[in-house]
Amino acid sequence: MAPMRLLLVNGPNLNTLGSREPEYYGTTTLAEVVEAVRTRAASLGAEVRAFHANGEGAIIDWLQAEQAGANGLIINAGALTHYGIALRDAVAAMGIPTVEVHISNVWKREEFRHASLLSPVVNGAIVGLGVQGYLLALEALVRINSGKAL
Ligand code: DQA
Repeated sequence: MAPMRLLLVNGPNLNTLGSREPEYYGTTTLAEVVEAVRTRAASLGAEVRAFHANGEGAIIDWLQAEQAGANGLIINAGALTHYGIALRDAVAAMGIPTVEVHISNVWKREEFRHASLLSPVVNGAIVGLGVQGYLLALEALVRINSGKAL
């Protein structure tokens, strides 16, 4: 059987993880996050295709190109979460299990971060648990795909 194929998308400014506002985002780099997700995915029988872009259009183009055969999506859309209607539409149109990740606890931060355009079109969100949120999202998608409740 072909391995489960999962997509991992990081939006604007997440390429600067490691040095960007470490009080919110920690000191782990995006490359380290991607590597950790890939390694854990391999141990769970999944492969990960990862993408980062600062622009909404580039992310939408990549999602449309990758959606055939994809079994799930982990997405930290950065600030696009709060205003990216076109990205939300793209995610909704894909119709695959999706988990939204936020490294920081957006609920403890500015009010404009409390609104997520993505949340209504995803399976669930992992917020405020640091970069481990990506691994938790991965595990959730593997479980969703295998139909396990526990
Ligand atoms: C973020 C939270 C967003 O509000 C912010 O714009 C980001 C990162 C997070 O991972 O905590 O870029 O998505």
